[in-house]
Amino acid sequence: MRKKIIAGNWKMNMTPSETKELISKLKSKCDTNDVDVVFVVPSIDVTTAYECLKGSNIKLGTQNFYFEDKGAFTGEISANMILDAGATYVIIGHSERRGIFKEDNAMINKKLVKAHKAGLLPILCCGESIELREKNTYKEFISEQIKSAFNGISENEAKNTVIAYEPIWAIGTGKTATSDQAEEVCAFIRDIIGTLYNDSVKNEIRIQYGGSVNAGNAKELFGKPDIDGGLVGGASLKEEFASIVNYKS
Ligand code: PGA
Repeated sequence: MRKKIIAGNWKMNMTPSETKELISKLKSKCDTNDVDVVFVVPSIDVTTAYECLKGSNIKLGTQNFYFEDKGAFTGEISANMILDAGATYVIIGHSERRGIFKEDNAMINKKLVKAHKAGLLPILCCGESIELREKNTYKEFISEQIKSAFNGISENEAKNTVIAYEPIWAIGTGKTATSDQAEEVCAFIRDIIGTLYNDSVKNEIRIQYGGSVNAGNAKELFGKPDIDGGLVGGASLKEEFASIVNYKS
């Protein structure tokens, strides 16, 4: 049985002071062992969030990093900085990084390789645009994203990767993929992992759905056999996130 993982992607929201406030509202309600809960906060909020989350089971992550160890990379943060500040997860290849900041599959592969070498737990995002969905070529596109991201990743590292399937047309739009659409792609991704590795990686790797997940649709989405939780944007900034974490009750 794969443990569900529910991560809140705060994006570029919350100052350190606001971080304290939001965590004080969410901490006790999200502190569970039934699912893995991750708050993926802006890098500048990690230290504050770490202090606020002490004593709970909630894990911390950042939304990006750079694959070099240190040096002249103005504006970037390294894997070791993230780990030393108390975060253990990192999102890689979010569609906003791919689209707005022009990160390509080659860059995302370097980040996935480095995250594992450094001991970070990556949440690797993939997903198609509305154009590719309408042209019915989304599977080829996602297959390419996955194959190129996992280039050079060992079997054990693959097992410790979380994949988030996030159709771009469902992100921040209120237009959730239906649970059948989400399940179809998550199962498809699991099959690709099976062909790249073997059945044990295929059965152990966790695949989330992301894109307008909310308290009303979480239970149905997470009830699908190949959906192992969610990557939640907008709703992770509200008390609603606690209802998503506790989707079973
Ligand atoms: P959303 O964002 O839940 O606001 O659609 C999800 C994401 O981009 O990770």
